[in-house]
Amino acid sequence: MYSSDLLKGRVALITGGGSGIGLSIAEQYLALGAKVAIVSRNAERLKDAVATLQARDMKEIASFQADVRNYEQVSAAVNAVVNRFGSLDILVNNAAGNFFCPTAEMSSNAWRTVIDIDLNGTFHGCRAAYAHLRESKGDGCIINIITMQALSGWPGAAHAAAAKAGILSLTRTLAVEWGREGIRVNAISPGPIGDTEGAKRIYEDRGRADLERSRVALGRFGNKQEVANAAVFLASDLASFVTGENLIVDGGRWLKYVSEK
Ligand code: NAP
Ligand code: COA
Repeated sequence: MYSSDLLKGRVALITGGGSGIGLSIAEQYLALGAKVAIVSRNAERLKDAVATLQARDMKEIASFQADVRNYEQVSAAVNAVVNRFGSLDILVNNAAGNFFCPTAEMSSNAWRTVIDIDLNGTFHGCRAAYAHLRESKGDGCIINIITMQALSGWPGAAHAAAAKAGILSLTRTLAVEWGREGIRVNAISPGPIGDTEGAKRIYEDRGRADLERSRVALGRFGNKQEVANAAVFLASDLASFVTGENLIVDGGRWLKYVSEK
C-alpha cells in the first residue's frame, strides 16, 4: 500500500501551507502525487513557497490568499481550488496564531484573535469544504492540527489551548455527523517541532527549549516531516477506517507529563 503515488488523484487544501508544518505537509502530499493548494494571508509568502516547490519539480501546486477568519474569503478559496484542480478531497486546517501571554494580562482582543483564527477558522474551512468533500471519489478527509495542551491546559497560552480544545470537539462532532457521507475527520497533536514559528515563539525565544526537550520522552524536538508523515497516513486509504481520532505525534511528551505526575 505504501507507494510513491499514494495520494495520486487527490486534491488537498492546506491552510497556513506557506510555512512551517503546513508547508512540510504540502511537500509530502506533492511528493506522493497529490495536487495541493496552500492558503493564507500573506501573498508574498505563498508566492515564495510555490516558487520553491515548483523549482523542485513539484508542479501541481497553487496558492490562494485568504484570512481564515473571514468565511467569504475561505469559501472563495475553496471554490478557486475546485475550479483549478477539479475537486477537493483533503482539507488540512493548519493555520493558527499563538503568542505567550499570561491570562491576567491578555486583552479581550488578543483572546478573540486567537479563537477567531484557530477555532472559527477551522469551522470556516470545514463548512466551506463540506459540499466538495462529500463529492470526493474516495473518502473526503479533514485533518485538524491541534495540540495535547488543549487537554492539559496551557498556562501562558489560554487562548490557544481553548481554541484547540474546541477544534478537538468539532473534530469528533463532524466525524459522526459527516461519517455516512464519506468524510473522515481527524486531528493531529504535534509536540514541540523544531524549526517552526510555533516552537520559536513559545519555547526558544523564552529560553525554554532545553526544558521543553527534557519533557519529551524521546528527549528531543520533533521535525516537520514527522508531523507530515502522520498527515499522509490520515489522508490516505491506509486510514480508511480511522475517523474521530486524535493522532498524537509528540515523542511521548503527553505520556511523560501524565505518568510522572
Ligand atoms: P507557522 O509557520 O506560523 O504556521 C501558521 C500558518 O498559519 C502561517 O503559514 C500563517 O500564514 C497562517 N495563518 C495565520 N493566521 C492566519 C489567518 N488568519 N488566515 C490564514 N492563514 C493564517 O507555525 P507552525 O509552528 O508551523 O504551526 C502550524 C500548526 O501546527 C498550527 O496549527 C500550530 O498550532 C500547530 N502546532 C505547532 C507546534 C510547533 O511546535 N510548532 C506544536 C503543536 C501544534 P500567513 O501569515 O501567510 O497568514
Ligand atoms: N502578547 C500579548 N498580546 C498580543 C501579543 C503578544 N505577544 N501579540 C498580539 N497581541 C494582541 C494585540 O495587542 C491585539 O490586542 P489589542 O487590540 O487589545 O492590543 C491582539 O492581540 C491582536 O493583535 P494583532 O497584531 O492586531 O493581530 P493580527 O491579526 O495582525 O495577528 C497574531 C494575529 C497576533 C496571532 C499574529 O501573531 C500572527 O499573525 N500569528 C501567525 C503566526 C503564528 O502565530 N504562528 C505560530 C502558530 S503556533
